Amino acid sequence: MKYDFTTIIDRSNTGAFKYDFMPEPLKGSGIVPMTVADMEFSAPPQVNEAVIRAAKHGCYGYTGPQGEYLEAVKRWQKTRHGWDIDEDWYVVTNGIVQALGIAVRAFTEPGDRVLIMTPVYHPFYGAVKDNGRELIESPLIERCGRYEINFEDLEAKAADPSVRLMLLCSPHNPIGRVWTRGELARIADICLKNGVIVVSDEIHNDLIVGDKEHTVFANIAEAKDNCVVCTAISKTFNLAGLSCSNIFVPNGELRKKFSEQAHRDGCGCVPYIARFATIAAYNEGAEWLDELLSVVRANFALLYGFIEERLPEFTVTRAEGTYLAWIDMRALGMGHEELNAFMAEKALIADNDGFMFGPAGDGFRRWNLALPQSELVSALNRLEIAVKEIK
Ligand SMILES: Cc1ncc(COP(=O)(O)O)c(C=O)c1O
Repeated sequence: MKYDFTTIIDRSNTGAFKYDFMPEPLKGSGIVPMTVADMEFSAPPQVNEAVIRAAKHGCYGYTGPQGEYLEAVKRWQKTRHGWDIDEDWYVVTNGIVQALGIAVRAFTEPGDRVLIMTPVYHPFYGAVKDNGRELIESPLIERCGRYEINFEDLEAKAADPSVRLMLLCSPHNPIGRVWTRGELARIADICLKNGVIVVSDEIHNDLIVGDKEHTVFANIAEAKDNCVVCTAISKTFNLAGLSCSNIFVPNGELRKKFSEQAHRDGCGCVPYIARFATIAAYNEGAEWLDELLSVVRANFALLYGFIEERLPEFTVTRAEGTYLAWIDMRALGMGHEELNAFMAEKALIADNDGFMFGPAGDGFRRWNLALPQSELVSALNRLEIAVKEIK
């Protein structure tokens, strides 16, 4: 390995949510949490150097995306995802969660319904409800740990005239599906037919760990003029704290509505440091990303092997994308609160309660595998001991 994915980085006193919000018995224990979706790895050194150069320059003024920045973004999308972007489609927001709220306000009225496929990344619920819109859920179908779209249900719900928007998570957090071109084309077709605009949150687009390719939603003919595509450097290169995302709206009319709302919400600048980090990440970070993916794949392989051999009562969903593992612990027969206490107090593991992604996640845990393998091994050993104790 050219890059370092084994050193344990001390993140205490950096304000990291993952450490500050650790359950009480684990706070300050030295245990590495597997919660919030950021990584326990340093960003690519090329990015760190670019950030230091930008800091040395010293003028942290208002900054935009023009020139080198958009060139780097375009080149990345073309080489990594085969997507040709027109610069006109671009809108900056300071994060994708912010973009979801902007889309909800731009494309729907209070009381309108917004479609999501559940279980899903929890801020999808907030983006709808906190903006006074109604949620309509199409639950994914789980069969032996693998999730599929219930197209009949999706189609019936999209046909409800009060449904105006769909928030699509692609790849899907927390269940790790990389939707196929066929599945996305079907979603595109259903939504177009029913006048439902699609916001495709592709924040995990570069984190492909299985054998499927990520398809950019707007790269599907029926979808192009009916969607917003949300991308960012944040997950790919562990740069979430730079609060910057690149949103693309190919259709002029939709773009006008989205940009006007973004403007009303105060968006407009690429954060100064994010500009330089993005250029370095996209121009020089591909090799680092490929190594990262091999580390994450190895962590998944270790997890699958351990669970199969030593904790066979649990099932792990085979992840196609994201660095997030979805583990079915329903065999323990605990409700999610009891399971939370068991994980924090007995297994000494800080992970995410599956229930936070929707009630279908009750009895499941989400583990963030973007961490040194030694820490994953320790967590698994602690889990095995704790499970044996209660048997
Ligand atoms: C699907 C998804 N969307 C958005 C975000 C957060 O995006 P941002 O930090 O750009 O608001 C996350 C973070 O975990 C995520 O998993």
